[in-house]
Amino acid sequence: MSQEDRYAFLAEWYDPNAALLRRYQLLFYPKDGSVEMFDVKNQRTFLRRTKYDELRLEDLFVGNHVNVFSRQLHLIGYGDQYTASKLGSKKERTLAMIKPDAVLKMGDIIQIIYDAGLTITKAKMTKLSWKEAMDFYAEHQSKSFFNNLLQFVTSGPVVALELMGDEAVSGWRGLLGPTDSNVARSEAAASVRARFGTDGTKNAGHGSDSLASAARELEFFFPSTTGRGPSNTAKYTDCTCCIIKPHAISEALTGKILNAISEAGFQVSALQMVNMDRANAEEFFEVYKGVVAEYTSMVAELCSGPCMALEICATEAPRTFREFCGPADPEIARHLRPNTLRALFGKNKIQNAVHCTDLPEDGILEVQYFFKILDG
Ligand code: RTP
Ligand code: MG
Repeated sequence: MSQEDRYAFLAEWYDPNAALLRRYQLLFYPKDGSVEMFDVKNQRTFLRRTKYDELRLEDLFVGNHVNVFSRQLHLIGYGDQYTASKLGSKKERTLAMIKPDAVLKMGDIIQIIYDAGLTITKAKMTKLSWKEAMDFYAEHQSKSFFNNLLQFVTSGPVVALELMGDEAVSGWRGLLGPTDSNVARSEAAASVRARFGTDGTKNAGHGSDSLASAARELEFFFPSTTGRGPSNTAKYTDCTCCIIKPHAISEALTGKILNAISEAGFQVSALQMVNMDRANAEEFFEVYKGVVAEYTSMVAELCSGPCMALEICATEAPRTFREFCGPADPEIARHLRPNTLRALFGKNKIQNAVHCTDLPEDGILEVQYFFKILDG
């Protein structure tokens, strides 16, 4: 028998009808893009080998959520040694933090991250309390700069990111450049700190300095077991909700979209990457059910991978931001409103880059859905 490349994962799916977690072995054949699923408990084939074009090899890693025929599967482990060594060995995770002085530049910084081939797997805007900052920087408590550092990192919101990729720890520190922004400007002019930092303390970003630090710092912002970590920054006033859709995230458009939003004068006052499951997506889009022909496809798109939920602040935010998003169909948008988000970044009516709140009275409700209910 000729040996065909085949990757195996252990995957979990929450079955809402039976209200239980089902476990599958998920097999992926890169040669023809086909998948096969095996029910672990009942020891039987669940899905015969079938071509499924929407699954991409780069989305297959432990911890990720992928959609297979409308089921959102959580990849919880590698199914065999071959897959672990082939797909798992080089995938490192690290914590990146965009510090208060560079949060307005987060679009550019996120673009730099994607351009370097790293993936963003978690994201959250938060404002650290003094105590949280002390915990986070505990290793520096005896340093002379400790107080200044805490003053600085608590002075405004920060954006914490989990980055994943080959040698993510050293890769991200390389992108940051030397600690002192002035040194960075003379030694690494293209680095994040050279471009967006101010001095030796206000230096735009943080990066874990080892795998062990990365594990500790990721746990601080994105705890895997108890608690929620530092709270989000949603304000629930003068705001509307924007969701950068999964297709735009996987096309690495997040940075460009965030830049376009801030260049148009809107403030991103809260941000969180979310993995929507089907039930949540259906609930969120409930008002479109039976009203919009694309409802089912809209739900499928929203839970096809991570999306980015944003609280957008502005005067008359729902109305003005909706105008800036443009007509729901990007083709129409490109004709009528070529500078809108959907004209610039959308592909079609379903993959139209962003969702925005339709009715002014729903702005706060939609923001609450993401930042209170799902992050509750
Ligand atoms: P980071 O931890 O933020 O990624 O930076 P790093 O490893 O390059 O630098 P580290 O020595 O760990 O210092 C942590 C942060 O403290 C501030 N700092 N101020 N002399 C000073 O005023 C001084 N030295 C360090 C910086 O914000 C630095 O990133
Ligand atoms: Mg450090």
